[in-house]
Amino acid sequence: MTITFLGHSGFLLSHGKWTVAIDPFLSGNPLAVHKAEEIACTHIALTHGHADHVGDTITIARANGAPVVAAFELANYLSEQGVESTEQGNPGGRIEFPFGWIAFTHAFHSSSYEGRYMGMPCGLVVSMGGVVFYHAGDTDLFSDMVLIGEFYKPRIAALPIGDRFTMGPELACRAAAMIKPEFAIPIHYRTFPPLVQSAEAFRPEGVAVREMEPGESWSLS
Ligand code: NI
Ligand code: MN
Repeated sequence: MTITFLGHSGFLLSHGKWTVAIDPFLSGNPLAVHKAEEIACTHIALTHGHADHVGDTITIARANGAPVVAAFELANYLSEQGVESTEQGNPGGRIEFPFGWIAFTHAFHSSSYEGRYMGMPCGLVVSMGGVVFYHAGDTDLFSDMVLIGEFYKPRIAALPIGDRFTMGPELACRAAAMIKPEFAIPIHYRTFPPLVQSAEAFRPEGVAVREMEPGESWSLS
């Protein structure tokens, strides 16, 4: 699997001919180095309906003919907006794809878009090319993260550390220690002034921290 960080909470996960874009927020993202038109992907997966996660989904889905994997209400909204193919889910659900699978987990947050309820906020577990990647979405710490770690055994966990809207570094350290991935990637920080501006305080015990720069790619086998 090759992991490309798009800035904020966005990633491209690639293996062979498959690429899953997660939370592709590029337009209006001061850290983004990619433009929406440059994104080539076969699938899009969203954690929740907030604008800093839905981002350029509609543009990218249309340009690539990519199905969008999202919570039921968010997927329905995107269909109404002209996204041709969606895969609806909800926490606990797992969907099989030619590249592997995507599972929805809990996230403690909210989910709305332009005042409309967008269903449950979620985390996503993506299995691709023999690597399991857990994207926690926007969330507080919750003790069931232990179960996510035990059940899915993610090798990588992308965890929000920006505080105010999600966990800050202290809580995120505890999350990483519960999930026990090999590597934790800090996300949802630095993008805007109210968020924590550095990952310095994110040093979980027993888990390697891999800070990624927007635009950076990292290949794991
Ligand atoms: Ni959010
Ligand atoms: Mn957010």
